[in-house]
Amino acid sequence: MNTTTLKTNKKSWDDVAERFFGRNPLPEYGPMAPSENDLNLLGDVKNLKVLDIGCGSGHSLQYMNQRNASELWGIDLSEKQIDTAKIVLENTNVPLHLFESPMEENPGIPENYFDIVYSIYALGWTTDLNKTISNVSKYLKKGGVFVFSWEHPLYSRISNIDGTLVVNKSYHEEGPYDHEAWNHPAIMQQFKLSTYMNTLIENGFKIEKVIEDVCCSDEDLKRHSNRWYSLEKAEAVPTTIIIKSSKL
Ligand SMILES: C[S@@+](CC[C@H](N)C(=O)[O-])C[C@H]1O[C@@H](n2cnc3c(N)ncnc32)[C@H](O)[C@@H]1O
Repeated sequence: MNTTTLKTNKKSWDDVAERFFGRNPLPEYGPMAPSENDLNLLGDVKNLKVLDIGCGSGHSLQYMNQRNASELWGIDLSEKQIDTAKIVLENTNVPLHLFESPMEENPGIPENYFDIVYSIYALGWTTDLNKTISNVSKYLKKGGVFVFSWEHPLYSRISNIDGTLVVNKSYHEEGPYDHEAWNHPAIMQQFKLSTYMNTLIENGFKIEKVIEDVCCSDEDLKRHSNRWYSLEKAEAVPTTIIIKSSKL
């Protein structure tokens, strides 16, 4: 775990939290990506205990509440995000537990307890992928499901320079890099697709499904097109990787 990076990122997320209020939560998996309505990876969550890793403003947990999950748990690095999630989720009628903590640590989350752990566009912030996935494995019951979405590792490696797509950095190179899309200093981590998959396998998961599809309907384009997510790029490389796995 890199405490200097976590401190920088915590400050940045506290600063930008408002801009990300309710951005792409479940049933969405990410910009121009298929949604839970299309994929049905989580199935019927009624009476299931769920944990959200990097829960942000709490809107994905709100979706879980609307679908009658029995307990709602969330963890997020940012104090601002957790404060917002508490407000968004204040009217839920089931047990709610929110932790302000890095996902690299267990702040008191029970083990062998959850039916579903999920993470929407948060996992790639981890400074220790193996520790984070090892934590997720411990939280889940045997047979429990882990679904996460994150920016596809190829997407950030390709830049659109005056309409030409250029590989800006080797796909093979992993580790921290400066997140350029913000004005606030933040450090993201690059992992190859194989690293995500092998880390899951090494921590006792069976990979059930890997999704790299892009949804470029007029509606998707209207909602998601911006400086970073463009049709030109999305037609060439996936924006999002979604992996469903289960604990053996
Ligand atoms: C794009 S937002 C996630 C949105 C949220 N999952 C949703 O469904 O609405 C990414 C979140 O990851 C959190 N985050 C970043 N680094 C983290 C870390 N190391 N541990 C826990 N949370 C982290 C940020 O504070 C931010 O709230």
